[in-house]
Amino acid sequence: MTDRSRHLGRILFVLSLFVAVLVLSACSGPDRLGLESVVDTELPQNALDPAGPEARTIDNLWWLVFWIATAIFVVVEAALLFAVVRFRKREGDDRPVRQVHGNTRLEIVWTIVPAVLLAALAVPTVATLFDLRDEPAPAENALQIEVIGHQWWWEFRYPEYGFSTANEMHIPAGRPVYLTMTSEDVIHSFWVPRLGGKRDVVPGRETNLTLEADEPGLYLGQCAEFCGLAHADMRQRVFAETEAEFEAWARAQAEPAVLPDSGAALAGWETFQIVCASCHAISGTPATAEFAPDLTHFASRTTFGGATFANTTANLREWLADPSGLKPMRPERNDLETGRILGMPSFDLTDADIDALIAFLETLR
Ligand code: CUA
Repeated sequence: MTDRSRHLGRILFVLSLFVAVLVLSACSGPDRLGLESVVDTELPQNALDPAGPEARTIDNLWWLVFWIATAIFVVVEAALLFAVVRFRKREGDDRPVRQVHGNTRLEIVWTIVPAVLLAALAVPTVATLFDLRDEPAPAENALQIEVIGHQWWWEFRYPEYGFSTANEMHIPAGRPVYLTMTSEDVIHSFWVPRLGGKRDVVPGRETNLTLEADEPGLYLGQCAEFCGLAHADMRQRVFAETEAEFEAWARAQAEPAVLPDSGAALAGWETFQIVCASCHAISGTPATAEFAPDLTHFASRTTFGGATFANTTANLREWLADPSGLKPMRPERNDLETGRILGMPSFDLTDADIDALIAFLETLR
């Protein structure tokens, strides 16, 4: 094999890998998310389809940079093509090529022009960065939400209403939402592309982000910073609602749970206290642990497990039987002493236990 054909073979190999990745990434497993039924767009996380003022600010900046870059590309390519054609070697012309060494004026120009361009672009970029972090003016009546990243789920606290929920955030459309964010363990990144920017959540630090939805709707997001095994299964759903719908939701979430008093659901509650209460809280009951999502109104959520699985009986059954089989986690490394939790362990529950737990969970409206 010559060097040349080996080189060609390597290029073909890399190219075919690239194609394989493209093809495979178009495939998907079973639709555990139930996405088809909830979003009306093929690209629910398209940052170029902004649905709120903050996302639009970012989008405008993106297009400004895009068009400047496009203009530079066209000019450079045109100059290149011109040079290639105009100064090509012609038939019968064997004069030596004229050698050029240095052109001070040209070099100064092509240093200064990009520098000026980058400096000019820095002005709106930095301004936007600070803008998106600033707390909205009191007159804007922003909703306050505390975001806490966990491996691998999102906790959302509503201090004005006094409750905590997981993975699914409800907000009023047409009103800014001011997020105060931190992390329980490692760095995660909060990103709902159609509503606003991306911001890291950092353990021991507080970061902020403002977002807003123009219209009611469902907006999807996901953790955008690699944070370990189930990073890909650490998603968010933002439900933007009318002010009245939001108020009704928030008031209902703030209510304590109504415990069942008979049947399978009661048996489920008893199992819950033995098996689940060391990590999960249910408000208004002795279950107050905060290691895992608050389940007070679990049945009102459309998903679970980092907003990765539709909240259906079938998915719940699989989850309760073997959580790590559904979502890759590291529960064997859990340490309740230090509060370091890496997912839900499998408890070897019997089918009867699972049925009872599901019956109980489905009463938590
Ligand atoms: Cu959390 Cu990636």
